[in-house]
Amino acid sequence: MKITKAVIPAAGLGTRLLPATKAQPKEMLPVVDKPVLHYVVEEAVKSGIEDILIITGRGKRAIVDYFDAYPELEHHLMKSGKYDLLEEIRKVTELANIYYVRQKSPRGLGDALLYAERFVGDEPFAVLLGDDIVISNPPCTKSLIELYEEYKTNVIAVEEVSREDVSKYGIIDPEEVADGIYRVKDIIEKPKIDEAPSNLATMGRYVLTPKIFDYLKRIGPGYGGEIQLTDALRASLKDYELYAFHFRGKRYDIGDKFGFIKANIELALEREDIGKKVRDYLKSLKI
Ligand code: G1P
Repeated sequence: MKITKAVIPAAGLGTRLLPATKAQPKEMLPVVDKPVLHYVVEEAVKSGIEDILIITGRGKRAIVDYFDAYPELEHHLMKSGKYDLLEEIRKVTELANIYYVRQKSPRGLGDALLYAERFVGDEPFAVLLGDDIVISNPPCTKSLIELYEEYKTNVIAVEEVSREDVSKYGIIDPEEVADGIYRVKDIIEKPKIDEAPSNLATMGRYVLTPKIFDYLKRIGPGYGGEIQLTDALRASLKDYELYAFHFRGKRYDIGDKFGFIKANIELALEREDIGKKVRDYLKSLKI
């Protein structure tokens, strides 16, 4: 079955970026001139996704406005002859079919995903966390979809993190079965450094079968008192295989101050319009 549906959880509070995220969703923070979520939706679309459910929460209305049409602005841009911008604005609304649902209270990624059950139906689907920009060619989600097609079971992307950082992620116990492909023997949400089975961390990209919902409903609160997707994947291991793909592109965690700054600098450097200016400026700082 072709994978055409994706779920983007974007309901988190963004506490690591306060006060910037007090009145604005972290997923809407600009990286150069596009909000974070735009990059995430683009990755999904480039991976063959047609229908996207964004799980929002309180204070996230700007997300819905962003992907909606804005006739007054379009009219203004048309009148003033700014056709390039007009084209850009229109493209945003045509990226994909986007649907929304609101998580009622922030009870974790697993709880947020439960809101996607009816949207997903009985099809496998992609999950892209809304605060990670992931850049690679082919897109990470596309590689995961291909891996799903091979193994027909849950698949996740992982990357190496430093030992000190393992307690920020879901960490896998890997058994390499092919170059850069692991069978996951165990997966633990945010383990202590000395309890982590490896330094391979799940990085916010998954392709899941709808059976995951049965486990999400069953597991109960885990790390931080929240319902964790990692725990549902762990519970599913006794019934289904889980495979991991070793991602080797770039990932920016926008929920983190340093990740946010890095994304802005590196993605600006790659831009045709301002890349050279930014490079010259950084060189001139002589730091
Ligand atoms: C979530 C997941 C975690 C994963 C991480 C990737 O954690 O629970 O397993 O490794 O995203 O960014 P969060 O960053 O929401 O705390």
